[in-house]
Order: sequence, then structure tokens, then C-alpha cells
Amino acid sequence: MDKKVGIGLIGSQFISTIHAEAIKTVSEAEILAVMSPTGTHAKEFAKKYNIPNHFTDLDSILAMEEIDMVVIGAPNNVHCDITLKAAKAGKHIVVEKPFCMNLSEADKMISACKEANVKLMYAEELCFTPKYVRLKALLDEGALGKPVLLKQSEKHDGPHADHFWDVERSGGGVTMDMGCHAIEFFRWLNGKNPITSVYAQMSTSVHYNKTMGDDNAIIILEFENGVTAIAEESWTKLGGMDDRAEIHGSEGVAYADVLQGNSIQTYSSKGVGYAVEKAGNTVGWSFTMYEEIWNYGFPQEFAHFVDCVKNDKTPLVTGEDGKAVLEVIFAAYESAGTGRKVALPFKTDADKPYKLWKKN
Ligand SMILES: NC(=O)c1ccc[n+]([C@@H]2O[C@H](COP(=O)([O-])OP(=O)(O)OC[C@H]3O[C@@H](n4cnc5c(N)ncnc54)[C@H](O)[C@@H]3O)[C@@H](O)[C@H]2O)c1
Repeated sequence: MDKKVGIGLIGSQFISTIHAEAIKTVSEAEILAVMSPTGTHAKEFAKKYNIPNHFTDLDSILAMEEIDMVVIGAPNNVHCDITLKAAKAGKHIVVEKPFCMNLSEADKMISACKEANVKLMYAEELCFTPKYVRLKALLDEGALGKPVLLKQSEKHDGPHADHFWDVERSGGGVTMDMGCHAIEFFRWLNGKNPITSVYAQMSTSVHYNKTMGDDNAIIILEFENGVTAIAEESWTKLGGMDDRAEIHGSEGVAYADVLQGNSIQTYSSKGVGYAVEKAGNTVGWSFTMYEEIWNYGFPQEFAHFVDCVKNDKTPLVTGEDGKAVLEVIFAAYESAGTGRKVALPFKTDADKPYKLWKKN
């Protein structure tokens, strides 16, 4: 392609703001339109980011020939439908995590994109987070010896929008929302070695008046090559977002803390305007982030996806990865529901992961 990659954003709130900020830094890309069903939001968003077109309906944005790639930043329950329509319109697609609601949707998305000969890219930013990229490099160069145990955790005090709390729209709680990050992170670190079993413990410990989903979860994975991985996920942790990982190897250990470990440790008697995602009260001590989007790897992620479209390269994270993560998520809810370790491959025709947990 000998022009800039034309991009259409679908969604105009939390993650789409990050997408816009990230794409602004990619010289080979330009955002040509934004679409979201709430007209005022799309219009304000277009004004803020100097985007020439805004729409309230999907067909209009997909009809724009100059758009090569769409980025789906809409709730989980519409990822599949938007992907199928975008593929039919011949657009390359970046889909936010979690991939979609169930395995049958995942299959439909993958085959629609294959048939339409468009790229399906799964937006797992942890594979681009600079500190985690360096962590993986330590493992890959052998500095830590043979990997034995991988750990990753994401924790905050709960999502900002209603659709996350409504399991009919989200598919599940914190395991679906943030466990998906850990699962792809482990697969990437461990060279996509197959996962052989999943054990999970889940609870709705604090937000039971708000959601039927899990607000705390521990997920243990076993890989074919003997590596064990543990994910800790929480929607009940106060004091701002936490994102940490550990690699324990036969000849070394490495700890990486993306947010608090990179922050300015701040004391303020008045509070800080913005410290970090979901910081809550910042009076007293807080962890003030700088370049948060860069530290999370979003510009790097979009530079990669744009390069894949412009130069016809294979993405680092694909629709197949999104589906593999979803399979582990279903197995985790099955495990939490039955109290047993679940072997992979795991097949299910459940339409939403949380149902496997709640069926008992
Ligand atoms: N990668 C990450 O770290 C990360 C972070 C936050 C959210 N996400 C994911 O991004 C997606 C959106 O989350 P969010 O936090 O931006 O939510 P949000 O509520 O802040 O924004 C959702 C946007 O989607 C739009 N929308 C709703 N229904 C739509 C439809 N049918 N078609 C098109 N647009 C529609 C809304 O108008 C809104 O603009 C979710 O799948 C979420 O899991 C990823």
C-alpha cells in the first residue's frame, strides 16, 4: 500500500480515546472517521481528535472506501457482529479484548475474515508493553534459565461502564475482562506452547449488588512444556490500577511492575488531578504515572498493526489467539463451577462463559 492506512474507529469512549491517542503517533496512519451510536459522543470525539467524519451507524463508516482498517472499541457483545460486517465490507480489523462472547462467534469471525481476505488482529497490548517486552527478552536470551512459573496480575476497583457489570453483555466478570490479558501474556511469553489444563477459583466478594460476574479470580494454567502460570485478577483493589508480572526460572527470577514500578511516588495533601487509571482518592500518597499509554504499549501495538496492513505482514496477535484465550476463559469458568481442574482442548456450546460457573 503506497498511502497512509485509513482508519475508522468504532466506539468513542474509554478505549477509543486510547486508540486515537496511540494512532496519532503512527506516521503511516490517519483516522478518517469515528462511529458510535450516541451522536453527541461521536461528534465531540471527532472534534477533539480532528477526525473529518463521524457517524451513528455502522453501515456509513463501513461504506467509506478510503478506510482500510477499523478498530473495534465497543462492548464485548457486539464484537462479533461488527467484525462480520466489517469483513464483508473488506476492512482489516483490530478487535479489542476479550475477542467475543463465545467459541462459535470466534469461529465465525475467523472464517469471515479469511473468506474476505482481511487481517483479523487481536488487540492484546501486553504483548507490546515495553517493560513486558524486555521481560520476555530476558527469558528468550536464557538469562533466567528454563521457565518454571509465570505470574501476572491486573487489579483495580471495578470497571467504569455498565456493560462490564452486566454479564449478559460482557459474558463474565473480571476473568473475562482482565484474565484475558494474563492468558495471552502467558501464551506469548511461553512461545505459544499448548495449555493442557486450567484450574480457577472465583468469587463475587464485594460487588454482589452490582453484578453476577466474578470480582476476584485466581486462574492456574499448566502448559505442555511443564510451565505453570498463575493469574490473579481483581475488581476490588483500591488505590489505582496494578499490573505486575514475574518469571521464575531455573537460573533466575525477574519482577516487572508496569504502573506502580514506573510511577512518581507522590504525596499531596490536596490530591492529584490524574494519577493513574482508576486511582480513586489521591489525597496522601499516590502513584502518579507519566506516559501511561506508551508504558502500556498502545502506540507500539498500533504501529505494528498498521505496518501489518500497509506491508501485508502477519500480526503478532491474531483472531486465532483471541479464540485460544476465550477457550481458556470458558475452561476457567467451568473449573470455578465444578471445583475441578479442566483439561484442554475444551469444547463448549455455552453462549457466555459465566454460565458455566453459575450452572451449579
Ligand atoms: N485493552 C484494554 O486494556 C481495554 C481497556 C478498556 C476496554 N477494553 C475493551 O474495549 C471495549 C470497549 O470498552 P470501553 O471501556 O471503551 O467501554 P465504554 O463504555 O467506555 O465505550 C464503549 C463505546 O462503544 C460504543 N458502542 C456501544 N454499542 C455499540 C455498537 N453496537 N456499535 C458501535 N459502538 C457501540 C459506545 O457508544 C461507546 O462509545 C470492551 O470490549 C472492553 O473490554 C479494552
